[in-house]
Amino acid sequence: MTSTSRAPRQRETWTSSTGFILAAIGSAVGLGNIWRFPGVAYENGGGAFLIPYLVALLTAGIPILFLDYAIGHRYRAAAPLAYRRMARPAETLGWFQIGLSFVIAVYYAAVIAWSLSYFVFSFDLRWGDDTGTFFTGEYLKVGDPEISATIVPGVAIPLVLVWLAVLVVIALGVTAGVQRVNVIGIPLLFVAFLALVVRAVTLPGSTTGLDAFFTPNWGALTDPAVWIAAYSQIFFSLSIAFGIMVTYSSYQRRKANMTSSGLIVAFANSSFEILAGIGVFATLGFMANQASIGIEELPGLTGPILSFVTFPAVISQMPGGTFFGAIFFGSLTLAGFTSIISILLGVAASVGEKFGLGQKGSALVVCLSCAVLSLALFSTTSALLALDTVDQWANNVGIVFSAIAMTVLVVWVLRKGPTLKAHLNAVSTFKVGWWWILLVGALAPIYLGYMLYERVRTLITEGYEELPQWFLNTFGWGVIGLVVLAAILLTLVPWRGRDEPEFVPWPPLQEEPASLLQPGSSTTSDILRPRLPEQEEPR
Ligand code: PFF
Repeated sequence: MTSTSRAPRQRETWTSSTGFILAAIGSAVGLGNIWRFPGVAYENGGGAFLIPYLVALLTAGIPILFLDYAIGHRYRAAAPLAYRRMARPAETLGWFQIGLSFVIAVYYAAVIAWSLSYFVFSFDLRWGDDTGTFFTGEYLKVGDPEISATIVPGVAIPLVLVWLAVLVVIALGVTAGVQRVNVIGIPLLFVAFLALVVRAVTLPGSTTGLDAFFTPNWGALTDPAVWIAAYSQIFFSLSIAFGIMVTYSSYQRRKANMTSSGLIVAFANSSFEILAGIGVFATLGFMANQASIGIEELPGLTGPILSFVTFPAVISQMPGGTFFGAIFFGSLTLAGFTSIISILLGVAASVGEKFGLGQKGSALVVCLSCAVLSLALFSTTSALLALDTVDQWANNVGIVFSAIAMTVLVVWVLRKGPTLKAHLNAVSTFKVGWWWILLVGALAPIYLGYMLYERVRTLITEGYEELPQWFLNTFGWGVIGLVVLAAILLTLVPWRGRDEPEFVPWPPLQEEPASLLQPGSSTTSDILRPRLPEQEEPR
């Protein structure tokens, strides 16, 4: 193993638990909350969806969030190195997760760029009366589902701006970059969005929308697809099993209250999600009311069409629409931005650790390659369909597989359940019991396995959205195959980062004198190193 000393000696940390919590909320609250949740809930039983949603949150969301936190904090590295420190070959799983995150960032950036454009358009309601034709025709210039290299400047320019901003934040690092953006951005986002929701619920007709959103269809609860939708939503929304929360918690200080932070993050994310549902459906109620039709007759209640076609149409009809539009698209841009920086920080840290690059070097390499891909794929005329297909496979196949692999590997193969449980309990006020290992190690792989089987079976037998098979093989299965291949190859590349044969996980806090609780201090680790009780094979 080669040893270089190019990587920074001391690991940066969030400056406080509030810094960490705001950054983790920033990662969780994103496009998934605003454009995905309301439509998913509406299509899957309305008010009754809240039951599978809460079950998914409690049985998988929070337990796997704790697992991500425990791995990152105990092994103090981004996903590939954290897994490698548990067992060398496990590095591949870390790269698989980071690969998926990379794929998500490629298209996520495109949607942020659209939101940025629409933020500007909202000042003069540029989308006109036919918002559908404007979005797909005039703005995206969508063609047939064929790869087309015609760059659309209207998308390319905001996309470049988004990537430049991401690059600057990641290059500035954890404290001066990511934490600062979130400490300012998240309170701003909550205030702006609250104002939007208050305006929405006071619009005439809003109750029609809220009725449609909350009226429970209890029959939906017997449909497995509804439960699958609930679990997928929770994974994407909480950013879990992507290796990103592993990276975020690796920057936590030694004495960090992991589980309580996790509960705050999960609660804030779900509250924001429900708030978004209320805001979106109250607004749709207004639209249906104006047109004297039922909510179900409105076109496009989910995904890009909801945000970029239906919403602009409502905004045009609304008194004070310009202001409402600016807040809506401004919030969408901000929420998306605080999420994408979490992804890029995770990818950059992984690459930096493996190849011995510093913060700025890894930020440059990773952001540039992701930006080039995203510009090539999503500022061209095949954008919309490719985006939808990649999103479908990454979230419903890739990430579910990642969660199963992670829980089986950590609990069954490496038998780290008790160690990680003890680790969480040593640093947290909310203690986890054996129920946590049971949820993560036994229940999660079973129902997630079933979910994955169902989804893959449907995708194979029924295809997707009537798209040609070659298109699905390229943007769906092909992308997943590429991520697997990249994960294997990256594991095989010799480790070039700082060699750290002396790495040892932190021992339980009570074994350490209080005066040594200075996180990340080299003196602490130097003093402790020779007499640590639990020596583990580092990599
Ligand atoms: N949680 C984000 C959202 O709801 O939009 C998306 C996301 C961020 C997914 C970070 C995955 C990730 F690692």
